[in-house]
Amino acid sequence: MQTTSDLNPRSLPVAELHLHIEGTLEPELIFALAERNGIELPYRDLDELRERYEFTDLQSFLDLYYANMAVLRTEEDFADMTRAYLARAATAGVRHAEIMMDPQAHLSRGVSLETCVNGVASVLAQSEEEFGISTMLIAAFLRDLSEESALEVLEALLAMGAPIGAIGLDSAEVGNPPSKFVRLYDRAREAGLRLTAHAGEEGPASYVVDSLDLLGVERIDHGIRCLDDADLVERLVEDRIPLTVCPLSNVRLRAVDTLADHPLPAMLAAGLNVSVNSDDPAYFGGYVDDNFAQLEAVLGLSDFDKARLAANSIHSSFASDERKAELLAELNA
Ligand code: HPA
Ligand code: ZN
Repeated sequence: MQTTSDLNPRSLPVAELHLHIEGTLEPELIFALAERNGIELPYRDLDELRERYEFTDLQSFLDLYYANMAVLRTEEDFADMTRAYLARAATAGVRHAEIMMDPQAHLSRGVSLETCVNGVASVLAQSEEEFGISTMLIAAFLRDLSEESALEVLEALLAMGAPIGAIGLDSAEVGNPPSKFVRLYDRAREAGLRLTAHAGEEGPASYVVDSLDLLGVERIDHGIRCLDDADLVERLVEDRIPLTVCPLSNVRLRAVDTLADHPLPAMLAAGLNVSVNSDDPAYFGGYVDDNFAQLEAVLGLSDFDKARLAANSIHSSFASDERKAELLAELNA
Protein backbone atom coordinates (compact mmCIF):
# COMPACT_ATOMS: atom_id res chain seq x y z
CA MET A 1 0.00 0.00 0.00
CA GLN A 2 1.21 3.42 -0.82
CA THR A 3 1.17 5.85 2.07
CA THR A 4 0.06 9.42 1.58
CA SER A 5 2.36 12.01 3.03
CA ASP A 6 1.23 15.46 4.10
CA LEU A 7 2.62 16.68 0.82
CA ASN A 8 0.80 14.30 -1.48
CA PRO A 9 1.72 15.49 -4.98
CA ARG A 10 -1.92 15.13 -5.97
CA SER A 11 -2.92 17.82 -3.55
CA LEU A 12 0.04 20.20 -3.90
CA PRO A 13 -1.32 23.33 -5.53
CA VAL A 14 0.83 24.09 -8.58
CA ALA A 15 0.88 26.30 -11.64
CA GLU A 16 1.38 24.44 -14.91
CA LEU A 17 3.44 26.75 -17.12
CA HIS A 18 4.50 24.47 -19.97
CA LEU A 19 1.62 22.69 -21.61
CA HIS A 20 0.63 22.36 -25.27
CA ILE A 21 -3.13 21.96 -25.48
CA GLU A 22 -2.77 19.84 -28.64
CA GLY A 23 -0.50 17.54 -26.64
CA THR A 24 -3.37 16.73 -24.29
CA LEU A 25 -5.29 14.95 -27.05
CA GLU A 26 -5.62 11.45 -25.60
CA PRO A 27 -5.89 8.44 -27.95
CA GLU A 28 -9.51 7.80 -26.93
CA LEU A 29 -10.46 11.39 -27.80
CA ILE A 30 -8.58 11.13 -31.13
CA PHE A 31 -10.80 8.19 -32.08
CA ALA A 32 -13.97 9.85 -30.78
CA LEU A 33 -13.33 13.06 -32.72
CA ALA A 34 -12.35 11.15 -35.87
CA GLU A 35 -15.67 9.33 -35.72
CA ARG A 36 -17.65 12.52 -35.04
CA ASN A 37 -15.97 14.27 -37.99
CA GLY A 38 -16.01 11.31 -40.40
CA ILE A 39 -12.21 11.22 -40.59
CA GLU A 40 -10.47 7.97 -41.41
CA LEU A 41 -7.43 7.47 -39.20
CA PRO A 42 -4.33 5.59 -40.41
CA TYR A 43 -4.62 3.32 -37.33
CA ARG A 44 -7.12 0.47 -36.93
CA ASP A 45 -7.53 0.82 -33.18
CA LEU A 46 -6.19 2.33 -29.97
CA ASP A 47 -3.47 -0.29 -29.66
CA GLU A 48 -2.15 0.41 -33.12
CA LEU A 49 -2.10 4.14 -32.37
CA ARG A 50 -0.38 3.59 -29.03
CA GLU A 51 2.35 1.58 -30.76
CA ARG A 52 3.41 4.84 -32.43
CA TYR A 53 4.17 6.52 -29.09
CA GLU A 54 7.77 5.35 -29.17
CA PHE A 55 9.87 8.39 -29.98
CA THR A 56 13.53 8.71 -30.90
CA ASP A 57 13.81 12.50 -30.74
CA LEU A 58 11.71 15.69 -30.83
CA GLN A 59 10.97 15.44 -34.58
CA SER A 60 9.67 11.87 -34.37
CA PHE A 61 7.16 13.08 -31.77
CA LEU A 62 6.23 16.23 -33.71
CA ASP A 63 5.37 14.11 -36.78
CA LEU A 64 2.71 12.20 -34.83
CA TYR A 65 1.56 15.27 -32.86
CA TYR A 66 0.85 17.24 -36.05
CA ALA A 67 -0.74 14.22 -37.79
CA ASN A 68 -3.16 13.60 -34.91
CA MET A 69 -4.36 17.22 -34.99
CA ALA A 70 -6.28 16.29 -38.17
CA VAL A 71 -9.21 15.25 -35.96
CA LEU A 72 -9.62 18.81 -34.62
CA ARG A 73 -12.08 20.44 -37.02
CA THR A 74 -14.71 22.41 -35.11
CA GLU A 75 -14.88 24.79 -32.15
CA GLU A 76 -16.55 21.99 -30.24
CA ASP A 77 -13.53 19.72 -30.86
CA PHE A 78 -11.14 22.32 -29.43
CA ALA A 79 -13.51 22.92 -26.53
CA ASP A 80 -13.83 19.21 -25.72
CA MET A 81 -10.04 18.77 -25.76
CA THR A 82 -9.57 21.78 -23.46
CA ARG A 83 -12.28 20.66 -21.03
CA ALA A 84 -10.73 17.19 -20.80
CA TYR A 85 -7.32 18.68 -19.95
CA LEU A 86 -8.70 21.00 -17.26
CA ALA A 87 -10.70 18.20 -15.64
CA ARG A 88 -7.61 16.00 -15.47
CA ALA A 89 -5.31 18.87 -14.42
CA ALA A 90 -7.63 19.71 -11.52
CA THR A 91 -7.10 16.21 -10.10
CA ALA A 92 -3.33 16.73 -10.50
CA GLY A 93 -3.39 19.77 -8.22
CA VAL A 94 -3.08 22.34 -11.02
CA ARG A 95 -4.62 25.63 -9.79
CA HIS A 96 -3.30 27.91 -12.53
CA ALA A 97 -2.48 26.88 -16.12
CA GLU A 98 -0.71 28.78 -18.89
CA ILE A 99 -1.68 26.95 -22.01
CA MET A 100 0.11 27.07 -25.34
CA MET A 101 -1.72 26.60 -28.60
CA ASP A 102 -0.16 26.29 -32.10
CA PRO A 103 -2.44 28.39 -34.37
CA GLN A 104 -0.22 27.91 -37.43
CA ALA A 105 -0.62 24.13 -37.19
CA HIS A 106 -4.38 24.58 -37.55
CA LEU A 107 -4.35 27.33 -40.19
CA SER A 108 -2.18 25.14 -42.43
CA ARG A 109 -4.92 22.47 -42.29
CA GLY A 110 -7.63 24.91 -43.27
CA VAL A 111 -8.98 25.44 -39.73
CA SER A 112 -9.61 29.14 -39.05
CA LEU A 113 -8.14 31.17 -36.20
CA GLU A 114 -11.68 31.80 -34.93
CA THR A 115 -12.35 28.08 -34.71
CA CYS A 116 -9.25 27.14 -32.75
CA VAL A 117 -9.01 30.26 -30.58
CA ASN A 118 -12.71 30.47 -29.72
CA GLY A 119 -12.96 26.74 -29.07
CA VAL A 120 -10.15 26.80 -26.51
CA ALA A 121 -10.89 30.25 -25.09
CA SER A 122 -14.60 29.59 -24.50
CA VAL A 123 -13.67 26.80 -22.09
CA LEU A 124 -10.80 28.74 -20.47
CA ALA A 125 -13.26 31.53 -19.70
CA GLN A 126 -15.22 29.11 -17.48
CA SER A 127 -12.22 27.36 -16.02
CA GLU A 128 -11.83 29.17 -12.72
CA GLU A 129 -15.48 28.67 -11.88
CA GLU A 130 -15.77 25.13 -13.21
CA PHE A 131 -12.38 23.65 -12.29
CA GLY A 132 -10.82 26.13 -9.83
CA ILE A 133 -8.02 26.70 -12.37
CA SER A 134 -7.15 30.23 -13.44
CA THR A 135 -5.68 30.33 -16.95
CA MET A 136 -3.75 32.23 -19.57
CA LEU A 137 -3.69 31.38 -23.28
CA ILE A 138 -0.26 31.54 -24.95
CA ALA A 139 0.02 31.72 -28.74
CA ALA A 140 2.99 29.55 -29.65
CA PHE A 141 4.72 30.00 -33.00
CA LEU A 142 6.33 27.24 -35.02
CA ARG A 143 10.04 28.02 -35.28
CA ASP A 144 10.51 25.83 -38.37
CA LEU A 145 8.23 28.24 -40.26
CA SER A 146 9.24 31.77 -41.26
CA GLU A 147 9.13 34.86 -39.07
CA GLU A 148 6.83 36.43 -41.68
CA SER A 149 4.29 33.66 -41.12
CA ALA A 150 4.49 34.14 -37.34
CA LEU A 151 4.10 37.93 -37.64
CA GLU A 152 1.11 37.55 -39.94
CA VAL A 153 -0.63 35.22 -37.48
CA LEU A 154 0.22 37.42 -34.49
CA GLU A 155 -1.28 40.44 -36.26
CA ALA A 156 -4.43 38.45 -37.04
CA LEU A 157 -4.72 37.34 -33.40
CA LEU A 158 -4.35 40.94 -32.21
CA ALA A 159 -6.84 42.20 -34.80
CA MET A 160 -9.50 39.68 -33.72
CA GLY A 161 -8.95 40.53 -30.04
CA ALA A 162 -7.92 36.96 -29.22
CA PRO A 163 -7.62 36.57 -25.44
CA ILE A 164 -3.90 35.73 -25.47
CA GLY A 165 -1.61 36.87 -22.67
CA ALA A 166 1.76 35.75 -23.99
CA ILE A 167 3.62 34.29 -26.95
CA GLY A 168 5.90 31.27 -27.10
CA LEU A 169 8.15 29.55 -29.64
CA ASP A 170 8.00 25.79 -30.18
CA SER A 171 8.46 22.95 -32.72
CA ALA A 172 11.81 21.86 -34.24
CA GLU A 173 14.50 23.67 -32.25
CA VAL A 174 17.87 22.77 -33.78
CA GLY A 175 18.59 24.90 -36.85
CA ASN A 176 15.85 27.40 -35.96
CA PRO A 177 17.63 29.76 -33.54
CA PRO A 178 16.04 32.59 -31.56
CA SER A 179 17.73 35.14 -33.86
CA LYS A 180 15.10 34.22 -36.50
CA PHE A 181 12.32 35.78 -34.41
CA VAL A 182 13.58 39.13 -33.11
CA ARG A 183 10.88 41.17 -34.88
CA LEU A 184 8.13 38.81 -33.69
CA TYR A 185 9.14 39.29 -30.05
CA ASP A 186 9.53 43.05 -30.52
CA ARG A 187 5.98 43.21 -31.87
CA ALA A 188 4.56 41.04 -29.07
CA ARG A 189 6.31 43.17 -26.42
CA GLU A 190 4.90 46.32 -28.03
CA ALA A 191 1.43 44.74 -27.87
CA GLY A 192 1.84 44.22 -24.11
CA LEU A 193 2.19 40.44 -24.24
CA ARG A 194 4.35 38.38 -21.87
CA LEU A 195 7.24 36.50 -23.51
CA THR A 196 8.46 32.92 -23.26
CA ALA A 197 10.27 30.55 -25.66
CA HIS A 198 11.38 26.92 -25.84
CA ALA A 199 15.18 26.81 -25.66
CA GLY A 200 17.80 24.31 -24.60
CA GLU A 201 15.57 21.24 -25.02
CA GLU A 202 17.54 19.67 -27.90
CA GLY A 203 19.23 22.90 -28.90
CA PRO A 204 22.41 24.27 -27.31
CA ALA A 205 22.81 26.49 -24.24
CA SER A 206 23.52 29.39 -26.62
CA TYR A 207 19.83 29.30 -27.67
CA VAL A 208 18.94 30.02 -24.04
CA VAL A 209 21.36 32.97 -24.00
CA ASP A 210 19.98 34.29 -27.30
CA SER A 211 16.37 33.90 -26.15
CA LEU A 212 17.20 36.16 -23.20
CA ASP A 213 19.41 38.65 -25.09
CA LEU A 214 17.77 38.82 -28.52
CA LEU A 215 14.14 38.02 -27.76
CA GLY A 216 13.96 39.43 -24.25
CA VAL A 217 12.00 36.46 -22.90
CA GLU A 218 11.02 36.40 -19.23
CA ARG A 219 10.93 32.62 -19.03
CA ILE A 220 12.58 29.67 -20.74
CA ASP A 221 10.64 26.52 -21.66
CA HIS A 222 12.78 23.43 -20.91
CA GLY A 223 16.26 25.00 -20.63
CA ILE A 224 17.91 21.82 -19.38
CA ARG A 225 20.92 22.30 -21.67
CA CYS A 226 21.85 25.44 -19.70
CA LEU A 227 23.94 23.15 -17.53
CA ASP A 228 26.50 23.00 -20.35
CA ASP A 229 27.38 26.65 -19.69
CA ALA A 230 28.47 27.60 -16.15
CA ASP A 231 28.30 31.35 -16.84
CA LEU A 232 24.74 30.96 -18.08
CA VAL A 233 23.74 29.00 -14.98
CA GLU A 234 25.15 31.75 -12.81
CA ARG A 235 23.16 34.36 -14.73
CA LEU A 236 19.92 32.35 -14.60
CA VAL A 237 20.31 31.89 -10.83
CA GLU A 238 21.16 35.55 -10.25
CA ASP A 239 18.22 36.82 -12.33
CA ARG A 240 15.80 34.13 -11.06
CA ILE A 241 14.87 33.27 -14.66
CA PRO A 242 12.18 30.57 -14.60
CA LEU A 243 12.89 27.29 -16.41
CA THR A 244 9.77 25.22 -17.09
CA VAL A 245 11.20 21.71 -16.92
CA CYS A 246 9.28 18.68 -18.25
CA PRO A 247 10.94 15.51 -16.91
CA LEU A 248 8.78 12.80 -18.53
CA SER A 249 8.93 14.66 -21.85
CA ASN A 250 12.73 14.77 -21.69
CA VAL A 251 12.87 11.01 -21.16
CA ARG A 252 10.34 10.17 -23.89
CA LEU A 253 12.07 12.44 -26.43
CA ARG A 254 15.46 11.12 -25.35
CA ALA A 255 16.85 14.48 -24.31
CA VAL A 256 17.94 12.49 -21.24
CA ASP A 257 18.58 8.73 -21.12
CA THR A 258 16.39 7.81 -18.14
CA LEU A 259 14.54 9.63 -15.39
CA ALA A 260 17.32 8.57 -13.00
CA ASP A 261 19.71 10.65 -15.13
CA HIS A 262 17.47 13.70 -15.20
CA PRO A 263 19.27 16.95 -14.30
CA LEU A 264 16.39 18.31 -12.17
CA PRO A 265 18.15 17.55 -8.84
CA ALA A 266 21.33 19.21 -10.14
CA MET A 267 19.29 22.20 -11.27
CA LEU A 268 17.65 22.51 -7.86
CA ALA A 269 21.04 22.17 -6.17
CA ALA A 270 22.44 24.91 -8.40
CA GLY A 271 19.70 27.22 -7.16
CA LEU A 272 17.92 27.48 -10.52
CA ASN A 273 14.29 28.60 -10.57
CA VAL A 274 12.82 25.35 -11.95
CA SER A 275 9.25 24.07 -12.05
CA VAL A 276 7.76 20.72 -13.10
CA ASN A 277 5.40 20.58 -16.08
CA SER A 278 3.84 17.99 -18.36
CA ASP A 279 4.47 19.48 -21.86
CA ASP A 280 2.38 17.02 -23.92
CA PRO A 281 0.89 14.73 -21.27
CA ALA A 282 -1.11 12.50 -23.63
CA TYR A 283 2.13 11.60 -25.45
CA PHE A 284 4.73 11.46 -22.70
CA GLY A 285 3.18 9.20 -20.09
CA GLY A 286 1.55 11.56 -17.69
CA TYR A 287 0.26 14.78 -16.21
CA VAL A 288 1.91 17.00 -13.59
CA ASP A 289 1.04 14.64 -10.73
CA ASP A 290 2.55 11.72 -12.67
CA ASN A 291 5.73 13.74 -13.21
CA PHE A 292 5.95 14.46 -9.46
CA ALA A 293 5.16 10.86 -8.50
CA GLN A 294 7.85 9.44 -10.79
CA LEU A 295 10.41 12.02 -9.66
CA GLU A 296 9.68 11.01 -6.09
CA ALA A 297 9.87 7.28 -6.87
CA VAL A 298 12.97 7.37 -9.06
CA LEU A 299 14.97 10.35 -7.82
CA GLY A 300 13.78 10.40 -4.21
CA LEU A 301 12.54 13.95 -4.56
CA SER A 302 11.79 15.16 -1.02
CA ASP A 303 8.66 16.88 0.27
CA PHE A 304 10.81 19.97 0.74
CA ASP A 305 11.89 19.90 -2.93
CA LYS A 306 8.31 19.33 -4.08
CA ALA A 307 7.09 22.31 -2.08
CA ARG A 308 9.90 24.41 -3.53
CA LEU A 309 9.03 23.34 -7.08
CA ALA A 310 5.38 24.17 -6.44
CA ALA A 311 6.28 27.61 -5.03
CA ASN A 312 8.59 28.25 -8.00
CA SER A 313 5.77 27.44 -10.41
CA ILE A 314 3.46 29.95 -8.75
CA HIS A 315 6.10 32.71 -8.52
CA SER A 316 7.11 32.10 -12.16
CA SER A 317 3.61 32.32 -13.57
CA PHE A 318 2.16 35.32 -15.39
CA ALA A 319 -0.77 35.37 -12.95
CA SER A 320 -1.69 38.58 -11.11
CA ASP A 321 0.06 39.31 -7.80
CA GLU A 322 -3.28 38.76 -6.12
CA ARG A 323 -3.73 35.29 -7.64
CA LYS A 324 -0.13 34.37 -6.82
CA ALA A 325 -0.67 35.38 -3.19
CA GLU A 326 -3.84 33.28 -3.06
CA LEU A 327 -2.04 30.20 -4.40
CA LEU A 328 1.02 30.68 -2.20
CA ALA A 329 -1.26 30.92 0.85
CA GLU A 330 -2.91 27.68 -0.25
CA LEU A 331 0.48 26.03 -0.64
CA ASN A 332 1.68 27.21 2.76
CA ALA A 333 -1.48 26.00 4.49
N1 HPA B 1 9.11 20.86 -27.93
C1 HPA B 1 8.98 21.65 -29.00
N2 HPA B 1 7.82 21.83 -29.61
C2 HPA B 1 6.74 21.23 -29.13
C3 HPA B 1 6.81 20.41 -28.02
C4 HPA B 1 8.06 20.22 -27.38
O1 HPA B 1 8.22 19.48 -26.38
N3 HPA B 1 5.55 19.96 -27.80
C5 HPA B 1 4.76 20.51 -28.72
N4 HPA B 1 5.48 21.28 -29.54
ZN1 ZN C 1 6.94 22.18 -24.97
